Amino acid sequence: MQNITTTLKKLFYLWRRSQVPVKHSIKISIIDNLIIFLVCISISIISSYKLLLISPLNIADIFSWLFTFTEILISSGILILVSKIENPTISSRQILFILILLLAVQATKLALASTISPLSMIIPPALVISQGMGTITALAWVSIAIFSWPEPTVAINNNLFLILLACSSVVSLLGGRIRSRAQLLQLSIFIPIGSFLSQCLLMGKDKIFPINKQDFVLANGDIFSDSLMLAIVMLFTILFIPIFESIFGLLTKARLLELADKENPLIRRLSLEAPGTFEHTLLICGLAEEATRMIGGDIDLIKTGGLYHDVGKLHAPNWFIENQDGSKNPHDELDDPIKSAEVLQAHVDEGLKFARKNRLPKLIANFIPEHQGTLKMGYFFQKAKEKNLDINEYYFRYKGPIPQSKETAILMLADGCEAALRAMNINASDKEALETISNIIYSRQKDGQLDDSNLSKGEIFLIKRAFLNVWKRIRHRRIQYPTSKNNTFS
Ligand SMILES: [Fe+2]
Ligand SMILES: [Fe+2]
Repeated sequence: MQNITTTLKKLFYLWRRSQVPVKHSIKISIIDNLIIFLVCISISIISSYKLLLISPLNIADIFSWLFTFTEILISSGILILVSKIENPTISSRQILFILILLLAVQATKLALASTISPLSMIIPPALVISQGMGTITALAWVSIAIFSWPEPTVAINNNLFLILLACSSVVSLLGGRIRSRAQLLQLSIFIPIGSFLSQCLLMGKDKIFPINKQDFVLANGDIFSDSLMLAIVMLFTILFIPIFESIFGLLTKARLLELADKENPLIRRLSLEAPGTFEHTLLICGLAEEATRMIGGDIDLIKTGGLYHDVGKLHAPNWFIENQDGSKNPHDELDDPIKSAEVLQAHVDEGLKFARKNRLPKLIANFIPEHQGTLKMGYFFQKAKEKNLDINEYYFRYKGPIPQSKETAILMLADGCEAALRAMNINASDKEALETISNIIYSRQKDGQLDDSNLSKGEIFLIKRAFLNVWKRIRHRRIQYPTSKNNTFS
């Protein structure tokens, strides 16, 4: 009978492992959904109401309006869907941000279509969206902004349309990859220059080549001022990006890299007040970075998230083994496993407080609770059992949540493997190291910690190989090179 139960359990476990868990996106409240819906309706009205102002109005015009209205409404819905797929943890504030930008562009088209070039209206918001929400969301936003013109009588000529499409696509593609404010500045100079040159080349109103010299001379001033205007608006946009970051919780690459600076006051404090934790942090960042590279995840995100994952230990550094110099362990003096477990949980709670105080973006703060998930504090649970305390295992588990993204899951695995790899004998073989890594990862899998992370079996295999590669590097560093008195030149 016991064999059947074990087999069934095994089968169930194997079945569960073979399933790629469905990603649960963040729940948005009813009020937020209502606001988002109202903004979508406003975008649709602004983009289509001019069709109803024709007189005399006939049934075909009403159908034409209804068609445009529905088209924009559906497009806005698709935009939200695309942004949710690209950013599974997107918040309602961020969705509203994208929609408000679309609303603003449609309103600007209505009010200033004849005075401002469409380049200055569409390219700067595309830059902000690609920076904060990613390339695909920016491309989806750009396609709606370019194809929908609220004023039926205003139509941009084909060449300008092509230039607009090319420039905004380039900005959307490059914007998501830009890693510093300096590169942003370069983009905001090169895109206007590029648009100026391409407009000069494609000048004939609807002709593809600049055959008509007169057109070129007449429009030259306009093109120059349009491109200058684009450069000015882009520069202003760059100035405003940090404000958008803090209001809407956007996480740009530049912001990520700024946060990853080890001179950051909080990281500096960690290195001074909890040097052991700081060393542990650097090592797990190395492990996690290698694994994330292997599976094609967000390396900048995990490097920064990894740096902050244990900042909560600053509340009581000497209660954590890596900061004890071996003299005395406060947990031994306390001699209360439940209280010790509370101290361990506090490094998560205090970490979240530090994150709030230092205005860390949500995606970075998520690493703090998720790297511990609902893991069992095995050592103290064992101590409690030894003391015959009748206590529920629940009190010896972290409060969670379990990792909700591949990156936080990798950090949890790196966190688990770090101490074991550091303690491993220098002469241990690759096979032994891989076995240790596999055992740790398997125990977390079995415990259900990776259920929401979306990591596939193949990716877990790659993560193990990546950790092994880092271990090999560590081992290589620890090997003492033979020195000779005569050989001091290298
Ligand atoms: Fe931790
Ligand atoms: Fe840690």
